[in-house]
Amino acid sequence: MVSAPNPPLVSVDESRLKERAAEAMTTARTRTRALTDVVDDSDLVRQHSKLMSPLVWDLAHIGSQEELWLVRDVGGRQPLRPDIDDLYDAFQHPRADRPALPLLGPAEARAYVSEVRDKAFDVLAHAALTGRDLASNGFAFGMIAQHEQQHDETMLATHQLRVGDPVLSAPEPPPRGEDPEPDEVIVPGGRFTMGTSVEPWALDNERPAHEVDVDTFVIDAFPVTCGQFAAFIDAGGYDDPHWWTPDGWAYRGEHGIRAPRFWLADGDAWWRRRFGVIERVPDDEPVMHVSWHEAHAYAKWAGKRLPTEAEWEKAARWDPDTGASRRYPWGDADPGAEHANLGQRHLRPAPVGAYPAGASPLGVHQLIGDVWEWTASSFAGYPGFVAFPYREYSEVFFGTKYAVLRGGSFGTDAVACRATFRNWDFPIRRQIFAGFRCARDIAAGER
Ligand SMILES: [Fe+2]
Repeated sequence: MVSAPNPPLVSVDESRLKERAAEAMTTARTRTRALTDVVDDSDLVRQHSKLMSPLVWDLAHIGSQEELWLVRDVGGRQPLRPDIDDLYDAFQHPRADRPALPLLGPAEARAYVSEVRDKAFDVLAHAALTGRDLASNGFAFGMIAQHEQQHDETMLATHQLRVGDPVLSAPEPPPRGEDPEPDEVIVPGGRFTMGTSVEPWALDNERPAHEVDVDTFVIDAFPVTCGQFAAFIDAGGYDDPHWWTPDGWAYRGEHGIRAPRFWLADGDAWWRRRFGVIERVPDDEPVMHVSWHEAHAYAKWAGKRLPTEAEWEKAARWDPDTGASRRYPWGDADPGAEHANLGQRHLRPAPVGAYPAGASPLGVHQLIGDVWEWTASSFAGYPGFVAFPYREYSEVFFGTKYAVLRGGSFGTDAVACRATFRNWDFPIRRQIFAGFRCARDIAAGER
């Protein structure tokens, strides 16, 4: 039996919590539908890249996890489709093998997820959200809404890999802000609270809250832009092993990597393919589709380094006036459209300086949304970590194989994005919406 991860949240009454859970699940489903209805059936069953599942696998997998956790576990109801459990178990079948499985077809998958959703809502209506670990504070419902949104982001990455005419559209993000000055921020050394023990839907790897001592350091006020990254390319950054780790240099050579993924060289200009549209690479937008290795090489070339995870979180949460850690850089309020580029509201990162209302008290911008940010840290459990609700959620990924990413991207929904939220991936991954910002040690006399 695992210990309780969710202390009772007495200030929120149960009916409000149920409303919030239902809203989060409905928002996720609206997005899932939009991402899967916009292409035809042949597109849904096709594997657009060996890195990804066919979209129809993600769709039924979303329903399968909802059935397992909400209908069967929390609700104690009879299984709907025990015969397909194995097909949609991510640990049984690597992504590359999934197209060969006898998967549900598009119509069957749609009918299945909607039947599961009806049952899950019935469970929500009747569930007591106190007492039992999994249901307390609506955690299981929040976990399932986050899971669906995480797969929606994965499906968005599949859309980016898909070859063909554009099918997605969204308004442009807000414009570049005032000229971003200063471009670096000093974060004073000392202890701060990392992780959380009180956020009701925080996942096991974000827990528990603990004190971490961080030395004074300097962090970029903005993510590294495409224009800055192009300067690294122009300076021969991809040709000089000095900037790269041995693994990164070998990876770059084996795959002939010369620029961020989806970038196309045309004379002196850089173009890119973005959801089927070919366009000029915008100078002032955070760079994305770079691996950890490219982020590391750029940072070293710039005389800097990637921030550790603790540094990133301190820059994002620490309030110098109170010494307390906030939920988000701007405070404790849920993310609004003025704070951050989240939730696929736009189909690209916003230019630097576009979200002044989302800056941290120290003046660090765009930590949340736009692009995931690679950190120097590998994925590990915090002191006192307890796997919940199962080891396969996070614990099996702990170790040096994975690097941690923070902050979420334009394709991450607010329900799955907090200043404590931790994502992880292999250092070679480039199809995800990942960029980075740099940090450095403070120089003598700079304090
Ligand atoms: Fe999943």
